[in-house]
Amino acid sequence: MNQHATVTVDLAGRSYDIRIGRGLIDQAGAMLAALAPGAACAVVTDASVAGLHLARLGASLDGAGLRHREIVLPAGEATKSMARLDEVCGAVLAGRFERNDIVLALGGGVIGDLAGFAAAIVRRGIRFVQVPTTLLAQVDSSVGGKTAINSPHGKNLIGAFHQPVLVIADTALLDTLPAREFRAGYAETVKYGLIGDRPFFDWLEGGAWREVFSGGPARERAVEISCRAKAGIVSRDETEHGERALLNLGHTFGHALEAATGYDGRRLVHGEGVAIGTALAFRFSRRLGLCHGQDVTRVERHFAACGLPTTLAEVPGGTGSAERLMEAIHQDKKVSRGALTFILTRGIGDAFIAKDVDAASVLDFLREELAAPAVT
Ligand code: NAD
Ligand code: GLY
Repeated sequence: MNQHATVTVDLAGRSYDIRIGRGLIDQAGAMLAALAPGAACAVVTDASVAGLHLARLGASLDGAGLRHREIVLPAGEATKSMARLDEVCGAVLAGRFERNDIVLALGGGVIGDLAGFAAAIVRRGIRFVQVPTTLLAQVDSSVGGKTAINSPHGKNLIGAFHQPVLVIADTALLDTLPAREFRAGYAETVKYGLIGDRPFFDWLEGGAWREVFSGGPARERAVEISCRAKAGIVSRDETEHGERALLNLGHTFGHALEAATGYDGRRLVHGEGVAIGTALAFRFSRRLGLCHGQDVTRVERHFAACGLPTTLAEVPGGTGSAERLMEAIHQDKKVSRGALTFILTRGIGDAFIAKDVDAASVLDFLREELAAPAVT
């Protein structure tokens, strides 16, 4: 008998559960029927996930007597676009789904962000359920209600907060995830240790990471610890007026790298950008005299041990100039009235929000990184 865990995101009348465990997809129909009796489901997914896991979800919905219609989109970051949003909204309306029906995202962060945004705006808000199928989505993007598409002006710039009513994280679905995507999601998992849970980082670094990758009980435990950390932060700061910004550790640099590589997943996927961005945030913190070099080295070594990149030199095709990266950083939504806000660190487990970071020192730092990439 597999162990299942439940984490609750406490948002008063909009609270919801995150169910975590192997094989849970087979219970999706029963869970939805209990939550929303008689609701119909618009299942949004991508072509890769559809080929692997859609039939099982469909069988589970059928078993519970729930009407469902599938909307299958191309895989990849380019799907988070206005054109695909229009396609999903149109399909939901054409299928006559009502506000009490369900938009269900079966996929990674791309599908979750896009389907969630469609659910937020169609009929001014339809119930939304996440069935995340990547590690990144299980530990991060499926929880907390941030939904968005990308704009030519930058990543995630058009979106809304729209909380799901349920998250079903079946960790066995990750068995089919390509190794590169698994590693990318692992960068977002380690993030929770780096932000505020040093023992979690110690545990992962000490060897649990191998079982997270191979699919032993440490995988469920890592997803649960990550979701618990995120649920706590979201419960206290749903719309990112304060501590939720800590979840952006590594993301300001990471988003700039994604922009510099044209959001081309063949060159860099989101989690790889976050891994390099996190290493940059640690090295920048060291440069400012905030963080001890030993912690920087531990982070770099752990990422490298897992096969994650930590330097700008590892971005295939390069990143362009430091000035170009700065342009992307200025466009990032975490820039408030021209002042740069970064998540910096005093060490592993001790991240903090730094407002009014001097843009010139960031530019100097990036020039140094491009000239002499840190190698450990
Ligand atoms: P993704 O959704 O593109 O999935 C990665 C790839 O894995 C895709 O090709 C997909 O088809 C494939 N895939 C998914 N599940 C699979 C499975 N079980 N087996 C085999 N292949 C599978 O990418 P992602 O890394 O999950 O998400 C990245 C996106 O998430 C970015 O757009 C990022 O901005 C967003 N994000 C959002 C939040 C948030 O809070 N909303 C947080 C972090 C990241
Ligand atoms: N992934 C950042 C957030 O949810 O706030």
